[in-house]
Amino acid sequence: MSDEEVTRLLQKAYQDEIETVMNYLSNSIVLDGVRAEEIKESLNVDIDEELQHARMLGERLKQLDENVPGSEAFVANQHSLQPPENTTDVQAVIQGVLDAEEDAISTYRALVDAAETADDPVTEDLAVTILADEEAHRTEFHGFRKEYVED
Ligand SMILES: [Fe+2]
Ligand SMILES: [Fe+2]
Repeated sequence: MSDEEVTRLLQKAYQDEIETVMNYLSNSIVLDGVRAEEIKESLNVDIDEELQHARMLGERLKQLDENVPGSEAFVANQHSLQPPENTTDVQAVIQGVLDAEEDAISTYRALVDAAETADDPVTEDLAVTILADEEAHRTEFHGFRKEYVED
């Protein structure tokens, strides 16, 4: 039998990844302006990575014989990542991405701890792998934020 906290965090992370895909996709489409191009390109690369994270998490849930949530279980949380009314407001999107990546980082840290406590090294390894990707995303968008603040 799988551990309750590990399952809860895997399901939460799975849904968060899908919400991230949804918002990165919308933002990558709506942003306007020359300065937005770099951000849109980066979001497009990250969309594929976040979708792959969801796939890996879903496959782990399946291996543990746990439910992989569908849309009816979905609860939206990423308020700061909604596409901005002003479609040239690149800074708002950068901040929204940083909030989402910070949130993901704390979820994966919690999953690493829960999996270790539950003696589930496979889930722990998965959480560490994804955590490393999220830290790389955060670093990239920290860089973008510096660029935008200094201009
Ligand atoms: Fe992710
Ligand atoms: Fe990410």
